[in-house]
Amino acid sequence: MKLTPLVSLSVLTALAFAIPANKRDEFSEDAINVHNSYRTQYGGAQPLTYDDGLAAEAAEYANQCSWDVSKREGAGQNLNFTQHFASPPTATIKDAVDAWVDEVRKYDFDNPHFSEETGHFTQVVWKSTTKVGCARTVCGNENPSHGDSGEWVNIVCRYTSPGNVIGPGQFEANFGANPLTWGTSLASGAASFTSQCSWSLSSGNYGQNLYASTGSSATIQEAVENWMDQAPNYDYDHPGFNASTAAFTQVVWKASTTLGCGRSVCTTGNPFSGFNGPWTFIQCRYTPPGNVVGPGQYEANVGHPTGSQ
Ligand SMILES: *[C@@H]1O[C@H](CO)[C@@H](O)[C@H](O)[C@H]1NC(C)=O
Ligand SMILES: *[C@@H]1O[C@H](CO)[C@@H](O)[C@H](O)[C@H]1NC(C)=O
Repeated sequence: MKLTPLVSLSVLTALAFAIPANKRDEFSEDAINVHNSYRTQYGGAQPLTYDDGLAAEAAEYANQCSWDVSKREGAGQNLNFTQHFASPPTATIKDAVDAWVDEVRKYDFDNPHFSEETGHFTQVVWKSTTKVGCARTVCGNENPSHGDSGEWVNIVCRYTSPGNVIGPGQFEANFGANPLTWGTSLASGAASFTSQCSWSLSSGNYGQNLYASTGSSATIQEAVENWMDQAPNYDYDHPGFNASTAAFTQVVWKASTTLGCGRSVCTTGNPFSGFNGPWTFIQCRYTPPGNVVGPGQYEANVGHPTGSQ
């Protein structure tokens, strides 16, 4: 679930069909074997079973030959869309899963949390995921008129239950909310917005929290911790909207179920006066939106911290 910036790859000249996944062909055998060997290796997650419905969805998605298709919630999804110069292109499902698991080099086992840099890896080994279905499509050549002969291969796997759930052990559960699930279209919308490097709110039917930091190293974890720093200021005796606690109340808002975040390192639009280097812009979007103003809303949606009165 990497938040790959949306690059414009829409001009594809040829489409092929993904390998049908309704029989146990070599492709689906390879997909299941490579996943399960990594799942055994990292923390003893149970083996996945291959699911034809997920494979059909993956094929539908892969056949679109685009990054920019993300109305695919309800399952986790990993994607590898790369250009290959051998003819026919040799990229295999094993190559894609190997590349996803290679992110383990950046995963901090001492400080486990979601990171866009390791989200493919954590999905592959996610323990509560039980099913996978994958597809591979050779998409053709992006722009033959430029003598660019490499063919694009799109490999997609879909997973249920989805991994990368941001939940217990993170923040929401500490205020009585259910874990959020990751929404790929919310995430791609947020990533597209932060890449514009304009320090402002976006508009849409979702809640949103923003964070900016000088330098290029700020993480989503750091942003969420910053929003949660408002928690001690929330006045449970006078529940309601307050700009100084609104980021916190959105994070823990019980009626919000889905989250997607974007993160961009920017060189323009710097909101810090007197500072000239790169800055990091993070936006998280939440649906249904939190901070709904109305009778009983805050009472119902902002829980007391676990263990306090
Ligand atoms: C996609 O897979 C190829 C192997 O076919 C790998 O070299 C590449 O790093 C992968 N790309 C991403 C973004 O994971
Ligand atoms: C908002 O929070 C601030 C700081 O906690 C507090 O001083 C202020 O009275 C609050 N405003 C409202 C309208 O509750």
